[in-house]
Amino acid sequence: MENFTYFNPTRIHFGRGQIAAIDGELPPRSRVLLLAGGGSIRANGVHAQVLKALGGRTVFEFFGVEANPDFDTLMKAVVLARAEKVDWILAVGGGSVLDGAKFVAAAVPYAGDPWEILQTRGSKLQSALPIGTVLTLPGTGSEANGAAVISRRSIRQKLAFIHPLAFPRFSVLDPETTFTLPERQISNGIADAFTHVIEQYLTYPAHAAVQDRFAESVMHVLIDEGPGSVKSPTDYDARANVVWAATWALNGAIGAGVPQDWASHTIGHELTALHGIDHARTLAVVIPSLLDVQRPGKGAKLAQYAERVWGVSGGSEASRIDAAIERTRAFYESLGLRTRLRDYSVDAATASEVAGRLRARGLLKIGERGDITPEVVERILRQAA
Ligand code: NZQ
Ligand code: ZN
Repeated sequence: MENFTYFNPTRIHFGRGQIAAIDGELPPRSRVLLLAGGGSIRANGVHAQVLKALGGRTVFEFFGVEANPDFDTLMKAVVLARAEKVDWILAVGGGSVLDGAKFVAAAVPYAGDPWEILQTRGSKLQSALPIGTVLTLPGTGSEANGAAVISRRSIRQKLAFIHPLAFPRFSVLDPETTFTLPERQISNGIADAFTHVIEQYLTYPAHAAVQDRFAESVMHVLIDEGPGSVKSPTDYDARANVVWAATWALNGAIGAGVPQDWASHTIGHELTALHGIDHARTLAVVIPSLLDVQRPGKGAKLAQYAERVWGVSGGSEASRIDAAIERTRAFYESLGLRTRLRDYSVDAATASEVAGRLRARGLLKIGERGDITPEVVERILRQAA
């Protein structure tokens, strides 16, 4: 295990009725910018609960943060926040709204062009407004991490930043707020969370027994509870386990002190920027093929994954790994996520386009061993066609 500093400052209020806890989190005289998406929180009563908890505080509202939150939209919220001198950002929605809130919180006090925050991956941030969140879509882990991914459609870019100042101070996780999710969105969330575990676990052995066993149990919970929670959206206990599993998949715990890959996310963000494919669906396309192409370096962990997560035994190691990759593909498909580029009307020519874009950004060596070059990216995507 490598040396690490484990840091997670987000306080979680989990369970039914916990939106009321906002009242104890925000100073009574705070000026709050409530950030939201297209309106799902109005339809399902979450907005009304939030306003009740905010009581007499001064609240400004900004609706319209889209899926894959857009820089130009968010800059309008930045203008509003600066003009009204807000001192807290409250995100109410899915990962896109939460990520958007992190960007707005960082951009409001930022002296230069806020796009630099993305171009420098957050490395120059010195301050940010405090953020609270009410999560209505489990999956991204944004409720308890310091990362945000922002799209800029006008120049077809999708970039991430990460900084300790971007952690929410608190997050409310009431599984009942997720009952109204369409099947496509909850399936996406489960697949996204599962892939976050893969990114931090399917690398090479690091003698990190706690992280390994913990990662395996998060995957088991998603496999055991995920499909049922898609079919029975109002089953509280199943959904509660999905929500909590997704938080632990990307709150820093299973990734502490271990090698991490993140190539499927880097490639996937390009597929979203170019073709508008949902984030989780890009991962479902890339992962089966990436695991196959990268099996020389990932073999030991793939064999462990086959045995401990999918219960595959007998036969040669190569055949067990084949089976594990096929089970992974089948898991995505069982959730309703198609796993080939052609399923999204994208042809193999995108492989060289994505490789070229990564080359242009200087991303010449990604993955846990730095052995995923643009040429390898192209091979992975051709195999995913
Ligand atoms: O906009 P509204 O009306 O709220 O509708 C949303 C949106 O259309 C809807 N929705 C959310 N909660 C709902 C609901 N509909 C009914 N009932 C509810 N309770 O769901 C749609 C999708 O929402 P979105 O927030 O876009 O989805 P998700 O949570 O999957 O977020 C995806 C974004 O997060 C980024 C992705 O790249 C993508 O931009 N990620 C962020 C990460 C992070 N911060 O750590 C890591 C991830 O790997 C990921 O990259
Ligand atoms: Zn993800």
